[in-house]
This record gives sequence, structure tokens and C-alpha cells, in this order.
Amino acid sequence: MKYEIKPLPYSYDALEPWIDARTVEIHHDKHQAAYVAKLNAALQSCPDFVHEGSILSLISHLDAIPANIMTAVRNNGGGAYNHAFYWDGLSAGKTSPSENLSLAINEAFGSFDKMKAMLSDAAVNRFGSGWAWLCSSENGDLSIISTPNQDNPVMGAIAGFREKLTPLFTIDVWEHAYYLKYQNRRNEYVENIFNIINWNTVNQRYFKAIS
Ligand SMILES: [Fe+2]
Repeated sequence: MKYEIKPLPYSYDALEPWIDARTVEIHHDKHQAAYVAKLNAALQSCPDFVHEGSILSLISHLDAIPANIMTAVRNNGGGAYNHAFYWDGLSAGKTSPSENLSLAINEAFGSFDKMKAMLSDAAVNRFGSGWAWLCSSENGDLSIISTPNQDNPVMGAIAGFREKLTPLFTIDVWEHAYYLKYQNRRNEYVENIFNIINWNTVNQRYFKAIS
């Protein structure tokens, strides 16, 4: 058994003009695919850790992974999962936060625009490569964090988080996510991401997080 790459939920050009088709193609078919292949290679000696379809479960319990492959699983399991999560959080359709999520956003950040500013700051100011995340705690409190490399908030203590947060939305700020179109202008890429957030997906994730 091996992990398979999750297919893109739309065509390569679905996020145009904000994210160009060539970037989406290379990002999914080459970068994400490489993480999946390297995850499978790392787990070859430990087939018990290949759970059908659940890389999330794998990276949520890194403390159970044998020490000699833990870093490879953290980096490549994170890379495989984070990218699937990223694509699912985007779409070209017009959507908006649910009433519940809007209330939580206002409570945590003061307003939608303040949330947007904080999430943008987390993305633009992440030094090097990594991710910015909108997260929920179990009781529905929202927070914004960024992680280096391919770390995910569900990794908990191993990635330096005191509690396991549930990610609701993420922005990939590795250069491969934007360099072809935006070159060094990460801030422009981040600004434009807000045109293509799939709030239907984010709403469902929030509903699940607090259920
Ligand atoms: Fe990426």
C-alpha cells in the first residue's frame, strides 16, 4: 500500500488570473507529487504507518513514528497533506464566511479586515519557506499562526505547539507557490489569494472543528 497524491479539485487554470495555470500544474504535479513519493519512500520500512487515505492521521501522531524516519515523515507527510489542504481551500467561485464563522472572526480579530491583515502579515513575514494558517481551537476560538517548512498546526508539541489546533485555511508561501507570476512580490500573491478563498470549504472545516 502506498499513499496517492490527491487530485486537484479543479483544472489547472481554475484560479486564473490570481494564480496562473503553469504554477498550479508544476506545484501540484511536481512539488506535491515529490512529497508524496518521498513519504512513501520513507515509509517503505514501516508499512504499518500507511493508513488508507489518512496522511492527516500520520502527521497528527508524529510521536508514534520511529525516530529514524520521523523527520522525513514530518517534512514529506506535511508536504503531501498541506498541499491537498491548500488546494481545497481555494476556488474561483464567489463564496463568503458563514454567519457562525463571521461571528468568530469578529470576536477573535475585531473584524474581517483585521483578520485579513493579520493573516497577510503572517504570510508575508514568514521568513524563508512555510505556511500561514487560520486555525480554530476545540471551543471555536480562532487564531492565526505561521509555520516553517512543511509543519502543520496538527503536529502539536513536535512542531512547538502547546495545543493541537485545527487548521481552517492556509496560504503556501514557499516561492514555488508564486514565483513564476509574482517573482519576489510575495505580498501581491498573498493579497490576491483573498479573491479565491473557498469559504464553503472553510465554513465546513470550522463546523467540523467545533462539532
Ligand atoms: Fe507548495
